[in-house]
Amino acid sequence: MAAFGKVCVIGAGTMGAGIAAQVANAGVKVLLLDIVRDPADRNGVARGAVERLSKANPAAFMSKAAAKLVEVGNTEDDLARVAECDWVIEAIVEKIELKHALYEKLEAVRRSGTAVSSNTSTIPLEKLIEGRSADFRRDFLITHFFNPPRYMRLIEVVAGPESDAALVAAVSDFADRAMGKSVVKAKDTPGFIANRVGTFWLQSAINAAFDLGLSVEDADAIGGKPMGVPKTGIFGLVDLVGIDLMPYLKASLSMTLPKDDPYQAIAKDHPLIMKMIHDGFTGRKGKGGFYRINKEAGKQKEAIDLATGEYRKAARPVSIAAKDLPSLLATKGKVGAYAWAILGPTLAYAAGLVGEVADDVLAIDTAMKLGYNWKFGPFELIDRIGVVDFAKRLEEDGMAVPPIVALGKPFYRVEGGQRQFLGLDGDYHAIVRPEGVLLLEDIKAASKPLLKNGSAALWDVGDGVVALEFTGKMNALDASVMELIGQAIPLVAAKYKALIVYNEGSNFSAGANLGLAIFAINIAAWGEVEKLVAGGQQAYKALKYAPFPVVSAPFGMALGGGCEIVLNADAVQAHAESYIGLVECGVGLIPGWGGCGEMIERFLHAPGMPRGPMPAVAKAFETISTATVSKSAANAKEVGYLRPSDGITMNRDRLLADAKAKALSLVEGYKPPEPPTFRLPGAGGRAALDLAVQGFRARGLATPYDEVVAGRLAHVLTGGDADLVDTLSEQDLLALERGQFVELVRDPRTMARIETMLATGKPLRN
Ligand code: NAI
Repeated sequence: MAAFGKVCVIGAGTMGAGIAAQVANAGVKVLLLDIVRDPADRNGVARGAVERLSKANPAAFMSKAAAKLVEVGNTEDDLARVAECDWVIEAIVEKIELKHALYEKLEAVRRSGTAVSSNTSTIPLEKLIEGRSADFRRDFLITHFFNPPRYMRLIEVVAGPESDAALVAAVSDFADRAMGKSVVKAKDTPGFIANRVGTFWLQSAINAAFDLGLSVEDADAIGGKPMGVPKTGIFGLVDLVGIDLMPYLKASLSMTLPKDDPYQAIAKDHPLIMKMIHDGFTGRKGKGGFYRINKEAGKQKEAIDLATGEYRKAARPVSIAAKDLPSLLATKGKVGAYAWAILGPTLAYAAGLVGEVADDVLAIDTAMKLGYNWKFGPFELIDRIGVVDFAKRLEEDGMAVPPIVALGKPFYRVEGGQRQFLGLDGDYHAIVRPEGVLLLEDIKAASKPLLKNGSAALWDVGDGVVALEFTGKMNALDASVMELIGQAIPLVAAKYKALIVYNEGSNFSAGANLGLAIFAINIAAWGEVEKLVAGGQQAYKALKYAPFPVVSAPFGMALGGGCEIVLNADAVQAHAESYIGLVECGVGLIPGWGGCGEMIERFLHAPGMPRGPMPAVAKAFETISTATVSKSAANAKEVGYLRPSDGITMNRDRLLADAKAKALSLVEGYKPPEPPTFRLPGAGGRAALDLAVQGFRARGLATPYDEVVAGRLAHVLTGGDADLVDTLSEQDLLALERGQFVELVRDPRTMARIETMLATGKPLRN
């Protein structure tokens, strides 16, 4: 991996500050510079930006340690310090004369061979390097991040004909492995890939909503989820990014694109939208947008009437019956008409850009999925419509059929277990993943599972390693998952070397299936509940003590039982964006699949933990009773869910390969862990914990039922009726956990919490 010791970011605005934070999240020092606005406080602009970053929501920094890696300065006093840096990222305002002036100064102070890149969204590389030396031009490239830089996975990299290939590769590698971005190579054309297609898409959707007389609610209901676009839809998305960005993007693209580009024909400043911007209605950051929450009308959600420009109460949108894209497009009336008015022109436009903005369909699909959060890229969408039907409909509407569509071949296929894409040449080409990228998606296309049931599957991921995949809704865990674990263990022991727990859903796991729990509670099937708890405990401990290494690879949410399978693994390789937590108390329960003992164990061995059981027990109690969820994998180490030795992978696409490597590294001489024994503080310790909870209650921070739940948790964590002189086995602790769990399940207040969580996704504070 490219070893960059320090990176300089110039321009501490929305993007520069966010990029600086992500460099810091990668564990690399960063120097963040901006102009001097106040001579008495020369670094004020950059420092203010870092202060905002520390409070940003969603968080910009992954850990407290990361925040400390950013040093601030200004371009008048500190520009020469770019000589300390391996990469200089320019993220100043989008004005070419300012960028030119900065590069001229940089030219004088930077070390030759230091990469310089611009985060420009619209200015071609060719224009940026005008007037610069050959040396500078060789070291220059465009690295286009998306907002917010921590969370948007895409980076478009544009190299010029004079750019040094090795330097471009080094920057790309750093962006990929260290910063976790998916690098898409774009050509030096206006708007590159994602904004070129994305702006066309937004503009056609907005135009069509006006033309067809749709409400913004209906437009978003049709143009959002049914197309695999974030559920904000189009108007909701524009509210989010800022309505004022639209005329700006429009102006820039209209100016730079050739006159015959199809975008020119649809580019339009709608008077209503221009008026909204003029009056400060720029979206969520302004006084409101296409939607607003009217605080004067009791937080009423309102939407703007596109015909009159007046706000009115938001209405329930049209319901979409179509199950797939062909039926959506075939729907009579406004629904089908609007769907086609968006997809027809947008997908045709994207298809016409293959070869111009990127080499292949794969790059365009990846850019739209990772830069605009589309679930499917434009070519995946055409495949869903059916390429022949799509071409036919374009023809019927008198629209030009792009050559790659006219080929009439699906854009993707699987041939001999290998996923392939269609090239401009009309041939299929293998999708080749970068070295170190392994996707279960590819393995699944090429093979059959070793084991499978309704909630889980087991896959051979090569080199003697298998992956346990959860497959239920939200990857929820139930008895079938535990059953599959039971079947997997002898199979792996006999024929394989190691097991990893991994999947490619939206989240690792939302935890135990609460819907099933409710069902059992409703019919008072207490025996069933206890069986489910015991079954989970057994399955997880069987994994822990299996004769082969087990590595959990969480990403996204790993909650409740999803967290406990992480805790029970020999080692963890986590994606940087892992939100791990024992959240059971929120629904009136306590961890029931071994989470209590595992947390005590972790804290007993945590670096710097004072001796004796009470500090570790108190820490476990605090973490679990407050349903703490980590805000990143790095934060999970700070919180205590992960150990210092657990690995973190920045790039989501590299998680499986890294987890596999970690598992294989444990194979030689592997011995399962010795089951721990516990000496816990007993009644004395419990009294202290209960007292703390009473304090929280007195201050209004805990509800009456919180106190009950916390009391039962304290009972388990302090060892129940045992005392400091007694030694408890892991099994004793599991029995305690099970006993208290079942008591809580029987309490109607727990039932009320679970029902509220299932119905609203929010905790009930009873
Ligand atoms: P911004 O307006 O939030 O921040 C620009 C910053 O640059 C300000 O803090 C300003 O004081 C500073 N600045 C201006 N001239 C400077 C100079 N000569 N030297 C040092 N600092 C200077 O702008 P934003 O949105 O962060 O955009 C920055 C760049 O990133 C632009 O090129 C923009 O096109 C691009 N971009 C913006 C995206 C977005 O969503 N906002 C997305 C991707 C790229």
